[in-house]
Parts: sequence; structure tokens; C-alpha cells
Amino acid sequence: MSNIFSRRSDAGEAEPNELSEIRASRSSSGLPVKDLSNTNPTNVGLDWDSSDLISLATKDNIFYYPEPRGLYRAREAISDHFASYKRNMPPDNYFLCASTSEGYSWLFKLLCDTGDAVLVPKPGYPLFQHLAELESVQVLTYKLEYVHPSGWYLNLDELSFILSEDHGRRIKAIVVINPSNPTGSYIRKGERTAILDLCEKYDLALIADEVFFDFPIDENVERKTFVGEDRVLTFALDGLSKRMGLPQLKLAWITISGPSQKVSRAKKRLDLIADTFLSVNSPIMNALPFLFEHETAFLCKSLGRIRQNYAVYLEILTGKASPHRVLCCQGGWTALIESPSYFEEDKIAQRFLEEKGIFAQPGYFFDIDNGVHFAFSLIIPAISACCWCVEYRDFFEVLENS
Ligand SMILES: Cc1ncc(COP(=O)(O)O)c(C=O)c1O
Repeated sequence: MSNIFSRRSDAGEAEPNELSEIRASRSSSGLPVKDLSNTNPTNVGLDWDSSDLISLATKDNIFYYPEPRGLYRAREAISDHFASYKRNMPPDNYFLCASTSEGYSWLFKLLCDTGDAVLVPKPGYPLFQHLAELESVQVLTYKLEYVHPSGWYLNLDELSFILSEDHGRRIKAIVVINPSNPTGSYIRKGERTAILDLCEKYDLALIADEVFFDFPIDENVERKTFVGEDRVLTFALDGLSKRMGLPQLKLAWITISGPSQKVSRAKKRLDLIADTFLSVNSPIMNALPFLFEHETAFLCKSLGRIRQNYAVYLEILTGKASPHRVLCCQGGWTALIESPSYFEEDKIAQRFLEEKGIFAQPGYFFDIDNGVHFAFSLIIPAISACCWCVEYRDFFEVLENS
């Protein structure tokens, strides 16, 4: 075998799994795939009116003013916008990037040398492995554990044990997802304090991914942003992809806070990284002040959808006689369903797709390694959520009786 390629790009040549093959072959034979896990906001009826995106076409875009952190007027617009949420950060503490995925890659470059590690939650979303591997960074996991019906808890003993055993001090950062994907759990108050204590003790950075922060299922849920956290060097990630349902416009941001000396050094280094790529395009930066005018409308529409769909899943799949559990979800775009293990999870997913034409992401996609779980989207149209969930329930009834 030729070794012309890097090991970190090996995953590009991995064989697709059986479920993806079945899906691809259905699509290529013209058979419909009803995607119960679809979280692409641009094809679930939450898309924007094109007239609201007209600000992308201003003549300001003829000029190029390279700034590593992104155009000042765009950072000022974000800073002003979040002041109304009481998340006050000066424009100079924002770094604009094309996506939160890119934000992670910059932070891994900033914090990690080859072979260093970051700690991420498990279950967690699968992109992490690739994001880290492509930067030659190792992924170590700490567990989120589920207690029904109160929700997910971070295993703090395990987290602190992992850190105490890291004698070579290769772990550079703890990543928290607030709320997490796919668990939908916000970081609790006691968890937050313990994580900050650990970051202080082991001199670690904290990366807080808050792309779903403003999508709480219940308005009164306990939640607190990490934006502006000053105890430890903190990077909070957010962007237009989720908060405005505009992944195609490619704009996200990192906010930096923490002890002033560390923040100032981190900024200088991130300036170098960002300046090397200058990856954010001017039209989106120039349009930002106008796009924010539509944020409330998008949030209201999507929150209504999310809450309605979660209630629908609960209604269809819970009840004394139901073999299913809809796991407690506090926020975000995904609900996890736990179902009886009549077969292996992957086989169930394959049969569901072949027999009903419905695709649902199985729990192992997210590193859930016990029982049978499926991730149901909370942003698909309410009618699809209802009909496909009924089909899911009926499908399991047939499995039970077969
Ligand atoms: C928790 C979380 N963070 C970040 C992302 C990626 O967002 P972006 O489109 O900004 O790269 C995702 C994508 O689903 C996600 O689930």
C-alpha cells in the first residue's frame, strides 16, 4: 500500500456502513427516504424568505479589508446584539470563522501539539473524532449518564480521575456542549463549578459549544452561558448555522474570556491562526447587522416547532404500556428515544429503513453503547414528526409480535 497519504486522513477511505449504503441505494433507485433524524434547517420548512437575505447583495462587498478577527463592524454587531441577552463581550473578544467546526480546528491548533488530547462528552456528536484527528489531536471521553426522568448527569468522578491519571499532561482542554448533542442536556450549576475547578487545577482551557443554547424546551430550565466566564481561559462557540438556521452562509464565532494575561496571549496567537486563513467572506459579515433583525422571528418559529415535536414524541411513545422511553431533553434539536432491544440497534435501523423508508440515526452514531436508541429530529415539520413516529411505534409492535 502506498504511504503517500497522512494517517490522519485515513477515515476518508473508510467503507461506508451498511445503513448508509442502504440509504444511498434507495436514493439512487429513486425510492424516497423519510429522514426522521434530519436537522438541516434549510429543508424542513424553516428556511428564510429570500427577500430577508437581500442585505447579502450590498455594494460594500466590492472591497476587501482583511482583518484576522473578522470585520470590526460585524464583530460590533454581534457584540451589540448579545448585549441584549446580557452576554456582554467587547468586539475585540470575538473571532469570526466560517463554522464552529472551523472554530474547533483553530482552537485545537492554538492549544494542542501533535498527540495532545481534549476531553469531550460521551455520548457526543460524531464530527469530533474527525475534527480532532485532522489536527493530530486525540479525543478522550468523559461520560454523561442518564437517570430517568430527571435527565443526564456528568460523571464528575470519572472526569477528575482521567485528569489525575494524565501524568504526561497531554490533556489540554475540556469541551462542554451546552446543551449537548444528542442528549439535549445543559450543564448543571454544580457541574459547572466542578469543571472550572478542574480546569484551574490542571491549567486547562475550557471550550464551550453553545450553538443550541437558545433552544430550551422549557423556558425555565436551569442554564447558564459560558460566554464571559472569567475563572479560566474560556472559548465559547456559536454561529448562524443553528441560531438562525443558516448553515449555508458559513459564519460562526469564538468568544474569549478568562484571566487577562492568558486572554491577551491567546488573542495574539489566534490572530496568527485566523490571519493565515482569513476564511470568512465579506458579504456575510456586511449583512450581519441586518440579519440579526430576523433572529427573533427564526427563534420563535423554531422553538415552537421543537416544543411541539417533543410533546408529540412523548404523547405517541410514552404511557404505561409503552415499551419506549423518550429521554429527558432540555434543549437543542434532537430527542433521544430508547426502545426495546428486539435485535441489534443497527439491524433495527436497517429494517426500519427498508420496510418503512424511514431513516433514523441509531445511538451508536453518537457513541451510545448500551441498549437501543434512536435520534429523532425536533425540527422536522410537525406532520412528519407525528406520522413517522407513529410508524416507528407500529414497526416495533410488529417486531414484538414476530
Ligand atoms: C453541538 C454542535 N456543534 C457544532 C456543530 C457544527 O456547527 P457548524 O455548522 O457551525 O459547523 C454541530 C452540528 O450539528 C453540533 O451539533
